[in-house]
Amino acid sequence: MLAAEKNHELTQVGPGTPMGEYLRRYWHPIAGASELSSNPVKPIRLMGEDLVLYKDLSGNYGLVDRQCPHRRADLSYGFVEECGMRCNYHGWLFDADGSCLEQPYEDQAAPEMRFKEKIKIKSYLVRELAGLLFAYMGPEPAPQLPDWEPFSRENGFVQIVTADIPCNWLQCQENSIDPVHFEWMHGNWSIRLRNKGEPYGPKHLKLDFDEFDYGLLYKRITTSTNEQDPLWTIGRVLLWPNAFFLGNHFEWRVPVDDTNTLSIGWFYKPVPLDRRPYQQTSIPSWHSPIKDETTGRWISTHVINQDIIGWVGQGAITDRTQEHLGQSDKGIVMFRRRLFAELEAMKSGAPLKALIHEPAKNKCVKLPVAGHSTLPDNGVESKFTMMAGQPEWVRKAQEEAMGQPIDNHGIV
Ligand code: FES
Ligand SMILES: [Fe+2]
Repeated sequence: MLAAEKNHELTQVGPGTPMGEYLRRYWHPIAGASELSSNPVKPIRLMGEDLVLYKDLSGNYGLVDRQCPHRRADLSYGFVEECGMRCNYHGWLFDADGSCLEQPYEDQAAPEMRFKEKIKIKSYLVRELAGLLFAYMGPEPAPQLPDWEPFSRENGFVQIVTADIPCNWLQCQENSIDPVHFEWMHGNWSIRLRNKGEPYGPKHLKLDFDEFDYGLLYKRITTSTNEQDPLWTIGRVLLWPNAFFLGNHFEWRVPVDDTNTLSIGWFYKPVPLDRRPYQQTSIPSWHSPIKDETTGRWISTHVINQDIIGWVGQGAITDRTQEHLGQSDKGIVMFRRRLFAELEAMKSGAPLKALIHEPAKNKCVKLPVAGHSTLPDNGVESKFTMMAGQPEWVRKAQEEAMGQPIDNHGIV
């Protein structure tokens, strides 16, 4: 349980709020790079700010205010140029660093006024890595954009999946340090959804929680594992501050505003040995639906969709004054305490957790990996079970990479 003002402090993400200012000090993935190939301009809302993400004709990315500083036109209807993006209303042109490069009529009528030099649009840094576009919205200098080890893996097929989650970021991220939900929300609920009358799956017997440089860890022993199991000796990673890392995939929960979150997943699947060497030429990104439009209910067929049902069910911003935390929630308590300690650290100017400042330390940064490897599972290609709605063209690309058909039987 948390007092109302404490809950408020952890969940508000707008400019000037403590958590909003804190999260702005980290890089966040905001889109798949391939999203901008068909349409180079995308409106995007991040931490309560309405922005426009674009790729100009030279291939440079920009992330700027959505409203034009001239007379406030919507820049998501602007168009890209060789350098930067132009407002479609009166043609003002802006560079990715926010400079105003041209004001067509002002430049013609009164060049001596040098009006454009007085104009600056809000802009943030954008970098591409591993098929993702990351943004940094905090004070300069920006820390390094973390180069996590899986980003340099070879011989794999990667896909990026986004979803719009109508609830606050923190309840999504608390799921990253919640081992017991796996037994019920995925294991036993899936058994019930199959309606086969099967017995429940393995039970959790023992949990442990730990902290390391780049996040927190949870460890479990169940009725089907023992103390030698990597899920006990290594554990699963809550990647600081708003991601979950499971060996072959990442899930970020990026705040859109106080009551909306962008779920963005990066999924690596090793190709079979007889397909190697394999080089992926482009990384697909696609948007996953979370609601079944025919029934109006949340989709429950895929793993992360099940998680999403948990998160949205807790309310737009879950009321933590009404919780009753138990032994299974020790990781949640540890996470919240660490967040409060970090807010204090930010206030006093102390170093913040998991930020990498030195380029030399930011090469293929290793994270704890339990039970996954770059070797294929068993040579048989299976359907994508993580999120609903994989488009046909992505399934085809995956089949092509794997060199074999994917069995989608039983999953939509
Ligand atoms: S409103 Fe954008 S150039 Fe006039
Ligand atoms: Fe889950």
